[in-house]
Amino acid sequence: MQPLLQTLSQSVPFTDDLRQTVHTFLTVNGCPVTANHCIDVGAEARRVALRFEADPDKAEIAGWLHDISAVFPNRDRLAAARELGVEILPEEAQFPMIIHQKLSKVMAREIFHVHDAEILDSVGCHTTLRAGSTRMDQVLFVADKIAWDQPGTPPYIEELRAALEISLTHGAFAYIAYLWRQRDSLKVVHPWLREAYEELKGIERL
Ligand SMILES: [Fe+2]
Ligand SMILES: [Fe+2]
Repeated sequence: MQPLLQTLSQSVPFTDDLRQTVHTFLTVNGCPVTANHCIDVGAEARRVALRFEADPDKAEIAGWLHDISAVFPNRDRLAAARELGVEILPEEAQFPMIIHQKLSKVMAREIFHVHDAEILDSVGCHTTLRAGSTRMDQVLFVADKIAWDQPGTPPYIEELRAALEISLTHGAFAYIAYLWRQRDSLKVVHPWLREAYEELKGIERL
């Protein structure tokens, strides 16, 4: 394991209980709020997966792991990405918050020994989605937006829930469209989000 990740893991008792281990990992590294958020997203991802016939166990694991890179504050994220060999896009260099999805993916593999591509890929695009997204990508994407990490009710929740009545993809697109409408005020528009939008925008007319 890379020294950077070793340091973060050294005081964490790793057990067979991944849910608990992830929670402890985040808590001992100063992120108790994210620890609870990850557990909540795991539970929500299980529900969404059961509803839309995805693998609920994998979805739950993806939820637990999706924000583990919160242990790196924004100011350290680019350096961490460089050290871990993560490709940095110009938009990510400009707004390092959005590289946390790629960092979580690497950490899930290196620290928690998760090697399932479906899980890892969904963690790796949970903020922006991507073109050609899998069902698992969409499950985690939607679950993270339902069980969001801020106080109060998400402003898009009714729209998202209504879209989920049609399909999982409609649900995912509802959130993308919500972001797209405010793209001029976003710090950056990540190219994966743009590609997901372009790919899915026709879905509204279905
Ligand atoms: Fe996230
Ligand atoms: Fe999250």
